Amino acid sequence: MTGKATPSLRDEVDKARQSAVSAIASATDTASLRKVAAELANKKSALNAIRAQLGKIEDAAEKKAVGQALSEATAEIESARVARENELGDAEFAAQVERERMDLTEFLTGPRRGTAHIVTQATERLEDVFIGLGFQVAEGPEVETDFYNFEALNMPASHPARSEFDTMFIEPFSDQHEANTVLLRTHTSPVQIRVMQSWKPPIYAIMPGRVFRRDTPDATHMPVFHQIEGLVIDKGITFAHLAGIIEAFTKAFFGNEFTSRLRPSFFPFTEPSAEFDIRRANGSWIELGGCGMVHPNVLAAGGIDPDEYTGFAFGFGIDRMAKERHGVEDIREMYTNDLRFLRQFT
Ligand code: PHE
Repeated sequence: MTGKATPSLRDEVDKARQSAVSAIASATDTASLRKVAAELANKKSALNAIRAQLGKIEDAAEKKAVGQALSEATAEIESARVARENELGDAEFAAQVERERMDLTEFLTGPRRGTAHIVTQATERLEDVFIGLGFQVAEGPEVETDFYNFEALNMPASHPARSEFDTMFIEPFSDQHEANTVLLRTHTSPVQIRVMQSWKPPIYAIMPGRVFRRDTPDATHMPVFHQIEGLVIDKGITFAHLAGIIEAFTKAFFGNEFTSRLRPSFFPFTEPSAEFDIRRANGSWIELGGCGMVHPNVLAAGGIDPDEYTGFAFGFGIDRMAKERHGVEDIREMYTNDLRFLRQFT
């Protein structure tokens, strides 16, 4: 090998480097890139052929120069290969992800999803607050007997307080003073008796539900509406506990800026009895419901010894609260099932 041949060997290294780099660049997927790399690694590849001749170069300086050109070319080719491999790998992974993508799109173009009615929403919030205060939720039948709706609640036949409840009777021609006369409950208080009969004290219960009265619908009355009843029976329960629970409930449900007050009142099933009002932040009062210490006759009707236990009860309208909360002017609007009205409260 003459000294003259070596510059052309360096040219050949350069040519081999260029063609290797362009072969790498033109590989369109990792499989073909692997083939290109295998060809470059082959003993017969242009660079390896030159490398095989390295030993034959006599001029030490030239030998070093060609050797250096070879190693630079090898490094450049390798970094080109790694770069291309990453590039193709990323593209192939992205394509695979795209291929395997699962379409989890939720189509909201069909019927709208419904929401709970504002009275249901209010009931659920009330339940949450009372459950938070340690109460349990109970329910009773909407179709009741005279016994549970009146008699057990200290309103025997012909008690004058009965006339305050405009009752809808299921059997209108039966004797309406029989204990087993069937009627639509006029309040949730009969559930107090059912809870006392089936649970053992201590009792901390709330009883929400639908109630019925013979009323002509107007802006503030409906013949069908909702109440929530509360009942606590335990040893040593006093009126102070009642006031405390009403106040705790008021703050938890309406907010800390609200307070409550009790005004003397009368219910046959509680003694003493009170009406309770809540005070808005602006100082105005809203009448909410009735309450009082459970009358001993009522405890006895529920199978509880009035000498051992005392308790309190309260009851108030839920529709009124939903109406107040959402600024509904006419309570009848809540029950016309007009979607334009209902959809305001999603
Ligand atoms: N049941 C009464 C009503 O409907 C409310 C009430 C419940 C009062 C419990 C006192 C105790 O008006």
